[in-house]
Amino acid sequence: MSSSDKTVPKKSVGIEDLAVYVPRLFLPLAGEFSANRGIDPGKLIKGIGIERMAVADAHEDAASMAAMSLLELMRRNRLRPEEIGKVYVGTESAPDEAKALGTYVIGMLEQIYGKGSFQEASTVEFKAACIGTTFALESLSYWLAAEEEGKVGVVIASDVAKYPLASAGEYTQGAGSVALLVKSNPRLLALEQIYGAFTRDENDFFRPMGCTTAIVNGKHSNQCYLDAVQGAFDSFAFKARRQGVIVPGDGENVTDFMDHLLFHIPYPRMVEYASAAIFRHDWRKGRRSAEIERELGRDPIAQEYEDLQKYQEAEADYARRFAKSQQFLQAFAAKVRDTATLSRQIGNIYTGSIYLGLASLLEMQKIHAGQRLCFGAYGSGCSALFFSAIAQPEIESVPLRGLPQRLEERKQISLQDYELLHEGRKKDSMLQPREEFALVGIDHQGYRHYEYVQ
Ligand code: COA
Repeated sequence: MSSSDKTVPKKSVGIEDLAVYVPRLFLPLAGEFSANRGIDPGKLIKGIGIERMAVADAHEDAASMAAMSLLELMRRNRLRPEEIGKVYVGTESAPDEAKALGTYVIGMLEQIYGKGSFQEASTVEFKAACIGTTFALESLSYWLAAEEEGKVGVVIASDVAKYPLASAGEYTQGAGSVALLVKSNPRLLALEQIYGAFTRDENDFFRPMGCTTAIVNGKHSNQCYLDAVQGAFDSFAFKARRQGVIVPGDGENVTDFMDHLLFHIPYPRMVEYASAAIFRHDWRKGRRSAEIERELGRDPIAQEYEDLQKYQEAEADYARRFAKSQQFLQAFAAKVRDTATLSRQIGNIYTGSIYLGLASLLEMQKIHAGQRLCFGAYGSGCSALFFSAIAQPEIESVPLRGLPQRLEERKQISLQDYELLHEGRKKDSMLQPREEFALVGIDHQGYRHYEYVQ
């Protein structure tokens, strides 16, 4: 499929640049952790896909990390505060139930750029589990399409992913922030402004008021994710065809028109499950269906089974064989696998993880001008949004961020220190803050004080 017929309709808006902040501490999953928890390291490294999880230090939280990614984004782009019209924040680990996290972020940035320098920017927090940032990006793209003062927008994802100690979610934790600069005529990606959505009330993952860790029905959350992303994909495909943007010809599939597929990454293996579900679903039509049937036999059909359990077993077996098929492995290697590279070294960063996938592709220089990137975002509860963007001619000239090297320079911590940090029982920082925003105190009312430490 040539990319020449890919057009960006209306005013071109999208992602100009991105910056990533990851704490300087990490815990390797193989070794002390796996031994103490009685888990085979192979399960963590291969079965889950995470090697190291990023750990927030005692002076870090979702607000300080968000300020760090925004500061880097502004410095990289020589952006002045008065150019920013909106700061939208996606988070599910905000330190306050009412005050927008972005106000803390603006307070921190004003220590650098001057008091009042952001006062004309509006900020709002988007809470929708891991999809909050994507809804923020969607909203900002509509605002920008109508914006006439030449302002730009910023979307920040920032989260500390936290599950109870020794739970099945623990080895998928992580921490970090991604800031996206969103503007008209962007250098990286122009959004095609086609959004396919799916929403359903679910109890897969939620955090009732007052709880510091989420309640997770893990296996159920995997299934909700797959159902929702598939629903959003269908909605996207329908709209893309109706708008004449993706119109598969005879024998062609919708995914033939996608050069990269990026999914929410709660852990890297999930990207494999998600892409297998989408390719399998998409390839049921078109020229590939006969080839797949030759390799794997017929897809199980529910009506042909009297017993529901037998059908579910046949379905699970087929899904496993599909994920090992040549057809899938080739598509996965070409269009999906590399998106999880950074997540293997960081873990889950909730709302930002899909954009960490974008950072992986950028750092590995895998995206070329004219390519179409499709995003399948998911948030528990649950919602999915499937959307697309076209890589712009300048994409390869945007400076890299040195992320792989920065991850190598982090400090390894012991299991004991990790557990103390996790439980909020470590009062002193493991690494003294330097050239960063730090939480320096919480006053008697619960208001948080941050300082930029030189
Ligand atoms: N070596 C290699 N792989 C191994 C292994 C070993 N020794 N032991 C197990 N595995 C594989 C399993 O076979 C499985 O892979 P498969 O699906 O290809 O068969 C994989 O590791 C995961 O094992 P499983 O037992 O299914 O995982 P789990 O019980 O640890 O649960 C989650 C995984 C994701 C459900 C759990 O970590 C969780 O609840 N996470 C938080 C919620 C979440 O992230 N949800 C995702 C959607 S948002």
